[in-house]
Amino acid sequence: METRASSMATFLFIAALIASSCSSFTAAQSKVSFDDNFSKSCPESHFKTSEDGQTWYLSLTKDSGCGFQTKERYRFGWFSMKMQLVGGDSAGVVTAYYMCSEDGAGPTRDELDIEFLGNRTGQPYLIQTNVYKNGTGGREMRHMLWFDPTEDFHFYSILWNDHQIVFFVDKVPIRVYKNADYANNFFPNEKPMYLFSSIWNADDWATRGGLEKTDWKKAPFVSSYTDFSLDGCQWQDPYPECVSTTTENWWDQYDAWHLSDDQKMDYAWIGRNLVIYDYCKDTERYPTLPEECSLSPWA
Ligand SMILES: *[C@@H]1O[C@H](CO)[C@@H](O)[C@H](O)[C@H]1NC(C)=O
Ligand SMILES: *[C@@H]1O[C@H](CO)[C@@H](O)[C@H](O)[C@H]1NC(C)=O
Ligand SMILES: *[C@@H]1O[C@H](CO)[C@@H](O)[C@H](O)[C@H]1NC(C)=O
Repeated sequence: METRASSMATFLFIAALIASSCSSFTAAQSKVSFDDNFSKSCPESHFKTSEDGQTWYLSLTKDSGCGFQTKERYRFGWFSMKMQLVGGDSAGVVTAYYMCSEDGAGPTRDELDIEFLGNRTGQPYLIQTNVYKNGTGGREMRHMLWFDPTEDFHFYSILWNDHQIVFFVDKVPIRVYKNADYANNFFPNEKPMYLFSSIWNADDWATRGGLEKTDWKKAPFVSSYTDFSLDGCQWQDPYPECVSTTTENWWDQYDAWHLSDDQKMDYAWIGRNLVIYDYCKDTERYPTLPEECSLSPWA
C-alpha cells in the first residue's frame, strides 16, 4: 500500500469521482426477480430470502453448499449485484459469482469468474478473477479489497462486450480484459453465458494455498445477495437481434468499449495498491506470456 494518508486521500478523491461520473453505469438497470429469472440448486434449508424477497441468503454446511443461476443465457451486457460475504472465520469458504456458457465444467466452456476467498477472522479476503475460453483458463488475478466485504453490501459487476470485459467492485474497475488493437484469440465472445453464484468448500486450495482448513464448528457459513441488475442481450436460438446490431445498447456503445478517464485513474490506483497476483507477470508459470498480456488496458 502507499502511505496511509496518501492512499486515503486518493480514496476519497476517487469516491468523489465515482459519485459524480458513473451515471452511464447506473442509468439503465432492470429489476430481476428470483422466481422469474433464476433457478437454485441447493436444499431448501440452505436458501432463504428476506420477507420482501429482495435479499437472498445462501448457506454452506459440511453436508451441502448452495447455488443459483439464471434461467436464460446472455451474450454481452452488464451483470451486477450486491453481496455481503461470510463474516468471522471463513477460511476455506469460497463464494463464487461467475458467468459460464454451460451448466457444468464442460471441456469447451467459456467462463468469467469472480471468486471470494475467505480467511481466518480478521485476515483479509482475496478476490480472484479468471477468464476461460473453450475450456482453458489459467488467467488468474488476485486483488485485495479496500474495505471489509463482510461488514456491508458492495456491488460486484461484470461489463462484457466484444471490446472488453471489465470486472468492477462498486464502481471501480479492478480488472480490464481487452479485445482491442488486434484480435485476442483468447477472448470469450461467441458463447452466450448463464450467470451463477454459489458458496462452497474449497479448503484444499483457497486460503493460504490450502493450509487453512474450514472450521465446520463455525457452520453454517452464509453469504447474502441483493440488488440484482442485469442489462444484457438475452440469448434466443439461433441468434437474438441485440447481438447482431452491436451499437443499439449502452453496454455495446463506444463509451463502454474502453475505460473513461476517471475510471482509468481508479484502475491505476488499484494496480498500484491492491494487486496480489497477476498471471501476466508470472514468467515462471508462463515463460512465454499469453498473447493477451500485451494488450493495453488503457486503449
Ligand atoms: C426475467 O423474467 C421475466 C419473466 O419470464 C422476463 O420477461 C424477463 O425478460 C427476464 N429478465 C431478464 C433480464 O432475463
Ligand atoms: C475447443 O476445444 C475442443 C476440445 O478441447 C477442441 O476439439 C476444439 O477444436 C476447440 N475449438 C476451438 C474453436 O478452438
Ligand atoms: C489470508 O490471510 C493471510 C494472512 O494475512 C494472507 O497471507 C492471505 O493472502 C489471505 N487470503 C487468502 C485467501 O489466503
